Parts: sequence; structure tokens; C-alpha cells
Amino acid sequence: MLRLPSLKITDALESRFLLFDDLKVMWRDAHGITNNTDHSTGDPGIAEIEKTDDIPADRNHAPSDTPVILVVDANVRDAHREKIEQVFPAESTRLFEVPPGEESKSVAAWNRIIDFAFSGPLRRNTPLVAVGGGVTGDLAGFAAASIMRGLPLYQVPTTLLAMVDSAIGGKTGINHAFGKNTIGSFYHPRAVLFDTGFLTTLPQREWLCGISEVLKYGYIADRQLLEQAAGLADPASRNRSLLHDVIERSVRIKAEVVAEDARESGKRAWLNFGHTFGHALETQDNYRNINHGEAVYAGMIAALFVSRKLGFNVSDEPLLALKKTYQLNLNAHAGSIDRLVTLMTQDKKNRDNNIRLVLVEGYGQPHVQTIDDRNLLKEAWKYTFDTLS
Ligand SMILES: NC(=O)c1ccc[n+]([C@@H]2O[C@H](COP(=O)([O-])OP(=O)(O)OC[C@H]3O[C@@H](n4cnc5c(N)ncnc54)[C@H](O)[C@@H]3O)[C@@H](O)[C@H]2O)c1
Repeated sequence: MLRLPSLKITDALESRFLLFDDLKVMWRDAHGITNNTDHSTGDPGIAEIEKTDDIPADRNHAPSDTPVILVVDANVRDAHREKIEQVFPAESTRLFEVPPGEESKSVAAWNRIIDFAFSGPLRRNTPLVAVGGGVTGDLAGFAAASIMRGLPLYQVPTTLLAMVDSAIGGKTGINHAFGKNTIGSFYHPRAVLFDTGFLTTLPQREWLCGISEVLKYGYIADRQLLEQAAGLADPASRNRSLLHDVIERSVRIKAEVVAEDARESGKRAWLNFGHTFGHALETQDNYRNINHGEAVYAGMIAALFVSRKLGFNVSDEPLLALKKTYQLNLNAHAGSIDRLVTLMTQDKKNRDNNIRLVLVEGYGQPHVQTIDDRNLLKEAWKYTFDTLS
């Protein structure tokens, strides 16, 4: 079972990045990821997602005498070189840099990490630490899952999206010509280490990717997050305590959902709210101009339209209030509604070509429903394009 025993988020403006020593303490711990950091001294906190069930006991014992394999996003390394080197000194680290971008979630990049891992000292307890956004986390996580049937994995998310979503829950993977995330495995990190100081260099468009996932949590679980997300979306109203609260609430929701349904046979599907519409839009766009967060933002507007049409009382006003912040221009796709609906039927979450949508009956009340009324979906797209134009 997954547990979220404590959640403390570091504030890099005041405190340091998680110390290398802290990681050593964690690895020494018989249960893998017990947080031994004394927060009262001002040391950075660690958010822990603990999974003890299927981590073989032998890998939980004894720190590795091999260097850490550090897989880091190249942009993050450039922007935070000193901080990273402080925690991961060259003499005890082997560093693998991941070129930024979704293209890095490829078989070739995964293979390069495997080659790199085996080109130096490696044991089954050699830790692999992923430092970056969802791309690095998914790629490095899948490499960790594959090498010797699983190296101890530590996720250090550096985008808001990774902090509130992708670093938690154990989904790892890469893309294939057959589709996004079509190769991968469920593999939980020993710990997720938060340091919001990384976010100081995150571009606004990437912020909004994370905000979309926070808005999603607002609709499916915690209405207060809708208001809070709006406060974080705008750089002018962003503040530290709000940021920490939003991350903590979001992580808790994701961890709770995943704890109940690790392999997505039920509740975990709720996390796809807005995503079936969104994935179709990303595919139609060939992943060029619209990023994932923007597609999910539009997708939630469409899913709420369907929810309302089916008689549920839920407004899209909190989303539309952020229209200027997102500045989405979807005009190029407004003529492709038929194709978008076809793409939705091909979503890998569907069963028997029936479109399975996450709808909300009210705030915090999601459910999955099969929709076979194509006209309703077309109307939803039309409404979304008209509203956002
Ligand atoms: N595993 C899961 O459960 C899960 C969930 C949601 C999304 N995902 C995956 O996550 C990926 C998207 O993740 P993402 O949005 O974090 O994108 P990303 O990893 O591509 O990062 C976005 C951009 O921000 C840069 N960056 C990262 N951290 C930075 C920082 N601190 N300062 C400056 N620049 C920084 C990166 O170099 C990149 O250019 C997708 O591949 C998606 O499929 C996985």
C-alpha cells in the first residue's frame, strides 16, 4: 500500500536542496525511505511516498558503495548547476544529461541510460535519481525499473506538473510510434524529494501545465484548489505559502487515489479528467503548438460541457476566468471536430471503441461514463473552440 506519512516541502529561498547526507541516511534505513531529517533544525523537508510491499528486502538494506546515477534534465542542470553539484558531488555521482523535450521519452534515450548505467560501477542497490520534469522522471523511472529488474529510484521533480502529478504514482515510460506512453511500467520511487526553489526558473507556459493538473484536482476532489490555482497561475499573485499549500493538497489527492487504485482499474481513471479531449487535441496538433497543460485546460472545458448537458450542476467559470492567462489560440483546429472525435475513440483508456469520459456530477464528484453520442462530443468541441476563441 502506498502511504504518505508526512509531507513537508522545502523552500529553497530559505533552506537548501535536500542534502546528499540526508539521502544517505534514507538509504541506510531498513525500510528504504524513512525521513530522518530533523525539520526543527531548519533542514529541508522530504515528501515521502512510501511503498514497502514489493520492494525486495535485500534492496532496502545497506547503502550502495557505488556512485549514484543522476539523470538530469539539461535545462535544469544549466539553471541549477551549483545546487545540484552541492548535493551530488562529482566523486560520488555519475551524471547523465537528458536533452529537454518530449523526444527524450524514446527507446533510444532509454537505451542510452541503460548503456551508461552498465558502463560504470553498478549494483542492484545503486540508486538512480531523476532530476527534472515529467519527461526526465518518466524516462529515468523506466530505466530504473528495467535495470537489473529495478534500481532504487528517487524522483526530484523540478516542474510544477512533476511536483503535483507525474513524480507521484509510479507510472514510468516512454513513447513509441504507436503512441505516447505506450511502453512503460508501474514502478514507484523510494522517495519524492521536493524543493520549490527549482520552480524559480520555470517558464510561465510550463507553470500553466502544472496549474491545469491542479485545476483538475480542484474539480475531482478539492474545490478550494480551483481558487488557489488561479492565485498561482498569475506570477503577480503567486506566493510561497500558497504554492506550498497547493503542492501539498495536490500530492495528497494523487497519492490517495493511487493508494486505492495503483493500476488504474477504477478510481485512478478520475485523474484523466479533461485528458481524453486533451489527448485528441495534442494528437491532432502533432504535439507541435499546444502543450499538454493547455490541451488539458481545453479538455476540461469540453468535459464540463458534457457534464452539464447530462444534467450535472458544475460550472466552467473557474477555468474561463483564466482564459487570458492561458492565451490559447485553437483556431487552427476548429475545423477538425470530426477528426477530434475520431481520435477520442482511439484513446487507449477506452474499451471496445466506446469513449470513456471522466465527468463531474458536482465539485469533488467525478465518475467515468461511456459516451456513445458523437454529436454531444462535437457540440462540446464547438463550445470549447467558441469559448476560447
Ligand atoms: N508519470 C505520470 O504519471 C505522468 C503524469 C503526467 C504527465 N506525465 C508526463 O510528463 C511529461 C511532461 O512533464 P513536464 O510538464 O514536467 O515537462 P518536461 O519534463 O518536458 O519539462 C518542461 C520543460 O521545462 C524545463 N524545465 C524543467 N524543470 C525546469 C526548471 N526548474 N527550470 C527551468 N526549466 C525547467 C524542461 O527542460 C523542459 O523544457 C509528459 O511526457 C507526460 O506524458 C507523466
